[in-house]
Amino acid sequence: MDIKVFRTCEEASAYAADLVEAVIRKRPDCVLGLATGSTPEGLYAELVRRHQTDSLDFSQVKSINLDEYIGLTGDHNQSYRYFMDSHLMNHVNIDRANTFVPNGTAVDLEAECRAYDQKWLDLGGTDIQVLGIGPNGHIGFNEPGEILHADTHIEVLTQETIDANARFFASADEVPRRAITMGMRDIMSAQQLIVLAFGAGKAEAIARFNDDQVTPDCPVTFIKLHPNATLIVDEAAAALLK
Ligand code: GLP
Repeated sequence: MDIKVFRTCEEASAYAADLVEAVIRKRPDCVLGLATGSTPEGLYAELVRRHQTDSLDFSQVKSINLDEYIGLTGDHNQSYRYFMDSHLMNHVNIDRANTFVPNGTAVDLEAECRAYDQKWLDLGGTDIQVLGIGPNGHIGFNEPGEILHADTHIEVLTQETIDANARFFASADEVPRRAITMGMRDIMSAQQLIVLAFGAGKAEAIARFNDDQVTPDCPVTFIKLHPNATLIVDEAAAALLK
């Protein structure tokens, strides 16, 4: 497991962009596994910059996102579809038809989950998966608990996650209580994983990399099992790393 510590999140985001760019340049029709949250915003801004100034070409790139809130339509400004469009898709030459986010307003949510796993298979899997971390160690919306799920599924959000994400909504009451998330299999099957964590709020989750334990009470620890994973952190998130 490769751990890279950078002074600032800007430097860390530029390094993450280097890794994603390398995949796109090597395989122009690659599949990017994408994440939302404030953490990858700098990465996406850097990819947009490289598209605009270094002709990084997204014309054949495909993308599949980790998760979506249940109950928010794609035009809701806190939906993850809206996030991806506004931070990346609207600013690069990707074919929007090749960008996938779960539909959080599907009438049959179970069928949406099954279709999403099939979509991942049809795309041929993910070349590089970008991950952030919840303060409680969740990845996607795979919340800590006694078990984790392999398949795309409906997750009931923990209070900690609702509180952490309330800053994006008018109040905690408006945070959706459930989400569709890719399960651990599709995440762990990516050819390459990059995990980003910035700020002191992530330091405890990152401290779980001080040992070799893998446990569902901190889902991000599972990435220790991946043969090609890089943890990219700033100094604040690395504060408790030995
Ligand atoms: C949400 C997403 C996660 C993300 C997390 C961290 O809960 N489902 O994929 O990693 O937020 O958010 P932030 O980067 O804003 O700290």
